[in-house]
Amino acid sequence: MNARRFMLAPSILSADFASLGRDIAAVERGGADLIHVDVMDGHFVPNITIGPPVVRAIKRVATRPLDVHLMIEEPDRYLEEFVEAGAQMVSVHVEAVPHLHRTLTRIKQLGARAGAVLNPSTPAVALEDVAGIVDFVLVMSVNPGFGGQEFIPHSLEKLRRVQAVLTAAGSSAPIEIDGGIDAANIGAVVDAGASIIVAGNAVFGHGEPEAATRALRAAVTAPA
Ligand code: DX5
Ligand code: ZN
Repeated sequence: MNARRFMLAPSILSADFASLGRDIAAVERGGADLIHVDVMDGHFVPNITIGPPVVRAIKRVATRPLDVHLMIEEPDRYLEEFVEAGAQMVSVHVEAVPHLHRTLTRIKQLGARAGAVLNPSTPAVALEDVAGIVDFVLVMSVNPGFGGQEFIPHSLEKLRRVQAVLTAAGSSAPIEIDGGIDAANIGAVVDAGASIIVAGNAVFGHGEPEAATRALRAAVTAPA
């Protein structure tokens, strides 16, 4: 069994957008380590969410680092703006960029942590040649675009494959997982190697984000 050390990153996608400051404060009281921000453009994924002005507003109230997940085409055009708006972690989809090495390098040059994201159908080996430069890897455990979807069970095997690719490259970059995580499966994803856990619906879907954040953490640390 792993040491079960992990960071919790509530996704504000399922928060009340009219009360983002209140909801962010609630998850921070509940023990959130990061605030996960889902940026969607209506092209790379079907949904449209938020852009740099909202990230800038969140930055004013959040006390935890902002983990900005870009689900957009041509993310290179917006990297600087998102980092200037306050993103401390920026992840881009392997499927969305033709020059992944260049994009990750640029994020690092801008002063943020650079993450590479894999869709469920993208194999772990797609990371092989950037494993030495990524600061973190994000494994999608649903097809991106919406909160509240069901966890894809193969993602556990995917986590192990990504870990093997990173280990082979001598990288100790953490692996983040995103999509369909709840109190019932969070222990399994931590055991499979994820150490940054995103949760949207499980945190914000039931009206008590502070308690739900605590409950998720407790679901991992509780003895099996
Ligand atoms: C999905 C987003 C996720 C989403 C997770 O496209 O990237 O971050 O908010 O939400 P849940 O935990 O509800 O699957
Ligand atoms: Zn996300």
